[in-house]
Amino acid sequence: MKAVLKKGFGIGGRIARTLAADPAPSFPFGTAEYWMEQALLQSMESVGRAQPNPAVGCILVQNQQFIGRGSTRAWKQEHAERVAFSGIDPGANLHEAVAYVTLEPCTHQGFQPPCVNLLLQSPIPKIVIAVPDPDPRVNGAGIRMLREAGKTVEVGILGPEARAWNLNFFMTRETGRPLWAAKWAQTLSGHLCDASGHSKWITGAESRAHVHWLRQKYDSIVVGARTFLLDQPQLTVRDCAEPHHRSPERFVFDPKGRTLDLPSERRVGFRILVCESELRARAGGIESGIIPVPAPVDSPELWGVFRQVLESLEFPRPLQSVLVEGGPGLLQELLKHDFFTVVHRFVGARSFETVSEEHRMAWAPGEGWSFQTDEEIHGDRLHEWIKEV
Ligand SMILES: NC(=O)c1ccc[n+]([C@@H]2O[C@H](COP(=O)([O-])OP(=O)(O)OC[C@H]3O[C@@H](n4cnc5c(N)ncnc54)[C@H](OP(=O)(O)O)[C@@H]3O)[C@@H](O)[C@H]2O)c1
Ligand SMILES: [Zn+2]
Repeated sequence: MKAVLKKGFGIGGRIARTLAADPAPSFPFGTAEYWMEQALLQSMESVGRAQPNPAVGCILVQNQQFIGRGSTRAWKQEHAERVAFSGIDPGANLHEAVAYVTLEPCTHQGFQPPCVNLLLQSPIPKIVIAVPDPDPRVNGAGIRMLREAGKTVEVGILGPEARAWNLNFFMTRETGRPLWAAKWAQTLSGHLCDASGHSKWITGAESRAHVHWLRQKYDSIVVGARTFLLDQPQLTVRDCAEPHHRSPERFVFDPKGRTLDLPSERRVGFRILVCESELRARAGGIESGIIPVPAPVDSPELWGVFRQVLESLEFPRPLQSVLVEGGPGLLQELLKHDFFTVVHRFVGARSFETVSEEHRMAWAPGEGWSFQTDEEIHGDRLHEWIKEV
């Protein structure tokens, strides 16, 4: 099966960049792909900072050299084009320059003025765009305005790669709902842990660092109660390449309230979603950080209610995406209930001595899933799928 994204790219961007700054170029120097890859690398500087804005990169090139570059600042602040134009080399001649942007310039007044005006007011003759903006207020209008002004506009260079990198933005624009992504690490036989529930370490340090990078992309992370109890995961961003802009909001799905017996300091930094019926059975009030889910434990409506409760909570910025990091019990239920439109699957070379069937992921991509990424990360494999909606 052939992956959609070009070699070296995944939903987390240019994969080598997530492990170290300045990765080797993927394309011959001076080609449109070469420069668009530079713009995409520039956009990766905004990981975890731009959301819910798309993390965009813009570079300005004259005589095959950078004369300006920028990436989206924090939400409500400057877009990539404005940053690039504000720092142009003093000796640059824009009449001979080309702008490479990973997303169609915006045409609407939001928290920032429209970027397309910057390009229209500048003498720059050529703009290369990776992918059109799906926002209904833009949606081709930026490209049209630039062409009508007599500029040369090329669209589609590294388009799938740029869309995958900002998939959370694209999908929420297209569906109006937050995107849910699954991530797991399995052995070749599909097991996520051994029979006694130990999962350290199926994959190597580099794959785990790449997961930290992925976490920054997502606004929130969920794990199951058993994973929380057994692994005591931190779920923070620590080991990937800089920048480290944020760690996501962390949640535990714990319908039966198993984690409530822990000393409360073990739950610091996590919010725990527990069925209301289980909370009622307990003495004392509901502590802060415990979120009641108004559905019975084994009811069919539990999953829909859980989703609705989580999606309507308060977040530092509007919620765009949720990453579920396991374990197998939670992942299989959510796959069954059709939560996900993204799967990040790591396959490690190691195997366990004892295994149990309940910890094996029996998932195979069904209809609608498209295979995006097939990459080696230091001896492990990363497979990614997107379900188009
Ligand atoms: N390799 C990896 O990527 C990876 C990632 C994470 C974890 N792990 C491993 O996975 C193991 C834990 O996985 P797990 O599958 O045992 O648990 P889990 O997925 O961590 O937790 C599942 C949670 O969902 C609840 N649940 C499951 N099915 C349900 C249903 N039909 N109705 C209501 N609630 C339901 C469970 O309830 P109960 O409280 O009743 O069980 C539990 O709270 C650990 O050993 C961990 O090391 C591996
Ligand atoms: Zn803009």
